[in-house]
Amino acid sequence: MKPERKIYIFDTTLRDGEQSPGASLLPEEKLKIAKQLECLNVDVIEAGFPASSEGEMRAVAMIAEHVRKPVICGLSRMIPRDIDACRSALEGAAKKRIHVFLATSQIHREFKLKKGKREIIEMAVKNIRSARKDFRQVEFSPEDASRTERDFLVDVVRAAIDAGATSINIPDTVGYAIPEEFSDLIRLLIRKNPALGKQIVLSVHCHNDLGLATANSIAAVLAGANQIECTVNGIGERAGNASVEEIAMILNTRRDFMGCYTDIKLSEITKSSRLVSHLTGMVVQPNKAIVGRNAFWHASGIHQDGILKKRQTYEIMNPKKIGLSGNQLMLGKLSGKHAFAVRVKKLGFNLSAAEIDAAFVKFKTLADKKKYIFDEDIEAILQNQIAQVPETWKLVSMKVVSETGQKPSATIRLSYQGQVSEASSTGDGPVEACYKAIETVVRSGAQVAHYGLQSVTGGKDALGDVVVKLVVGTKEVSGRGTSTDVIEASVRAYLFALNKLCQEPKRGSASASRRKIDVRL
Ligand code: KIV
Ligand code: ZN
Repeated sequence: MKPERKIYIFDTTLRDGEQSPGASLLPEEKLKIAKQLECLNVDVIEAGFPASSEGEMRAVAMIAEHVRKPVICGLSRMIPRDIDACRSALEGAAKKRIHVFLATSQIHREFKLKKGKREIIEMAVKNIRSARKDFRQVEFSPEDASRTERDFLVDVVRAAIDAGATSINIPDTVGYAIPEEFSDLIRLLIRKNPALGKQIVLSVHCHNDLGLATANSIAAVLAGANQIECTVNGIGERAGNASVEEIAMILNTRRDFMGCYTDIKLSEITKSSRLVSHLTGMVVQPNKAIVGRNAFWHASGIHQDGILKKRQTYEIMNPKKIGLSGNQLMLGKLSGKHAFAVRVKKLGFNLSAAEIDAAFVKFKTLADKKKYIFDEDIEAILQNQIAQVPETWKLVSMKVVSETGQKPSATIRLSYQGQVSEASSTGDGPVEACYKAIETVVRSGAQVAHYGLQSVTGGKDALGDVVVKLVVGTKEVSGRGTSTDVIEASVRAYLFALNKLCQEPKRGSASASRRKIDVRL
């Protein structure tokens, strides 16, 4: 069997990642992220571009001083000022590297640098030699390598190695490469410079303009590259870079095929992702591989059933590996009774089969109104069910009109022993209008002593949870109602309390006010 290769992870969240529009970080924030990257166990942290500003210089210096395990790297153009800035910023580092870059593609040479091929090679050689005086590790990037003429790229890389570069990084700067094409390029470079991927680190740095950053990085590894430059959550210039979590999980999940590994501590992935998202303000798209909110949520009933029978039916990675608590069954209208019953049990409710059946009907009704059902929603359903009282007064329909500048009005239809009664009323608010209409039908004489409304879960389709306390004579009774419509929740809470009162005589505690209701009943 071929021995497995270690793939070095060069994290550039704090350099290329910070180049994401709007993602700029304070030095203290960069240090926080660097410490987390150390916990994630990346091999190299590209901490920044020291020559770019005072703050950046300070941030890189702080990281160099406080983060000791990984190699700390600084970016530099091929000019003495930048190399000096890197030297100063990285003075206190336990392990350090300088990353010098120079564009090599025709379009960059002609339009950006206005330099010929010979000048480019001379500039690279001169500055790599100079950088080697202060750094044992010098990484060289021929910027826009994937669009550079192949023979020229081979020459530049050879010259850089001869000048003392210890790592050669091949950037797909504009995310233009196709995996097969990119792996061919890597193979060509290794053929022409056999030390690459062995004594000389062969790195790749892929951008995601066509959504191929991870695929290109993986193709390069299969072709012999042994370092990947990547960022947490894939942030970076424009569409971003290859993401460290995808790379690490691909190499872990498909180690059988890839024959290589990283030293990334997988259980730190989620924490790293959340920290970077929080500090940069860059929200992770919900369907982002590995770290997206939905990456381990299962919505379809068939999938949920499969997961409950054997997790691997629909999960190729164990979410616990990346620091999540476990797979998530996103309950909603597609969910089956099996998933519902499992969640009910997990929430600590011990229901009989009949009770599950009843609760499942309510769950489905709610799921038709509400996209996702959260644990709190289920708890609300179950709490209502557990405290169930017979629906003596049942809501048949309600119509509420509430227009600006006009008193709200409500028409309520209630049924009692199959007989339907209707009443309308106005009120200072729509809830009061409903309660007055109910009272017109029921004539309980109840006074509302307390009314409380809160949302059960977040989001605009959250369940409203209403609690009312009714006072009838000397009696107090409370009721609770939940619905995505807060007015309906209010009506249900009122009726729930009234229905509780209707139960009272059976326990032999009639009172004058109770009798008032009974007369009507
Ligand atoms: O994308 C790129 O080419 C870069 C270089 C500095 C490596 O970020
Ligand atoms: Zn880049």
